[in-house]
Amino acid sequence: VISKAIEICGSDFRYFAQVGRGLLAQAGSLARELVGPSRCVIVTDSNIPSTVVERASEGLRAVGFDSVTTVIPPGEESKSLAQVERICGQMIDAGLDRFSVVVGLGGGVVGDLSGFIASVFHRGIPHIQIPTTLLAMVDSSIGGKTGVNLPAGKNLLGAFHHPVLVITDVEVLGSLPQREWRQGFAEIIKHGIIGDAEMFHELQPGTARELVELVSRNIQIKAQVVARDHSDVQGERAILNFGHTVGHAIERAADFRLSHGDCVSLGMVAACDISMKRAGLERREREMIVARLAEFRLPVRLPAQIDRERIMEVIARDKKFERGETRFIVTPRIGQAYLSREVTMADIRAAVEAL
Ligand SMILES: NC(=O)c1ccc[n+]([C@@H]2O[C@H](COP(=O)([O-])OP(=O)(O)OC[C@H]3O[C@@H](n4cnc5c(N)ncnc54)[C@H](O)[C@@H]3O)[C@@H](O)[C@H]2O)c1
Ligand SMILES: [Zn+2]
Repeated sequence: VISKAIEICGSDFRYFAQVGRGLLAQAGSLARELVGPSRCVIVTDSNIPSTVVERASEGLRAVGFDSVTTVIPPGEESKSLAQVERICGQMIDAGLDRFSVVVGLGGGVVGDLSGFIASVFHRGIPHIQIPTTLLAMVDSSIGGKTGVNLPAGKNLLGAFHHPVLVITDVEVLGSLPQREWRQGFAEIIKHGIIGDAEMFHELQPGTARELVELVSRNIQIKAQVVARDHSDVQGERAILNFGHTVGHAIERAADFRLSHGDCVSLGMVAACDISMKRAGLERREREMIVARLAEFRLPVRLPAQIDRERIMEVIARDKKFERGETRFIVTPRIGQAYLSREVTMADIRAAVEAL
């Protein structure tokens, strides 16, 4: 098994993401190094192949964990308080207590939900992330943000609760549908733009870099940003939101009928236009970004059925723009990004209209 450990640390947390191929079989022994033999619950969703779930639970059982598995329906609707209550009830019934462990085996939905449960069950118990989507590997399993949705909006309830360990086995991506690969690549391209020009230029659909290498490099980029600003205090972490202000507005304007990655792709195109005007991004680099997105079959033109006025209405209500002060992530060149206070609502409107 080729595998490498990437340290994720900040002022008050430190843990490793272990990345490799075929690592799942070692999930038990990796976990055992950090937490004593205890009861654990494996939270997963019904799209995760049963062979994957069995490999993880057998590995945990082999080293003395007494594991129960709970399966949620796939999709964003499962990131709910109803699931928190249901799963916590099951945990109590299975005898889990404050010495127990929560394992999230799935994509970002499972990761955010299981992490939130770990953060509140008996005031907080250890969480182990085993991401199974490309997006969860390079983005949601890193950084300690957990949460669930409310009817009023996404991620409205949440807590910072870092996992004790992240086990990233790229082999589990074998069953990932094409559409989900694109979701991950939208964030990978974003990572290249904000912090790794070399990776950006080397990215290629299909046989780019070896996956272990690519995923590791992306974990490092996110870990670097997170290390500098654990809880969003200095706004440093905000650069991870490159493309997300307009992206989120498009998601909402489309009533979530477009995927997050597609919306972020469009948001990044808009952010590039704004960056040309306010941060000196060269047209040539803007074109390279648009070409890269298109290569990964991410949209670079707004679908005709989406109303630009609705996008602008959502942006106007965005809490980042309260009191007339705008905060917008721009890129002066591929590999760098910063938070600008010079972007005007008119700049954003022009970029959305040009999409
Ligand atoms: N905590 C954070 O910092 C953070 C960051 C980004 C996104 N998120 C959250 O992550 C979620 C999105 O994550 P996601 O894109 O992984 O979505 P997801 O968890 O819904 O997974 C996407 C789809 O892939 C399926 N799937 C997962 N692994 C599979 C596998 N190995 N084989 C086959 N199918 C598989 C799932 O069942 C689902 O249908 C959102 O809720 C978002 O808010 C959190
Ligand atoms: Zn995103």
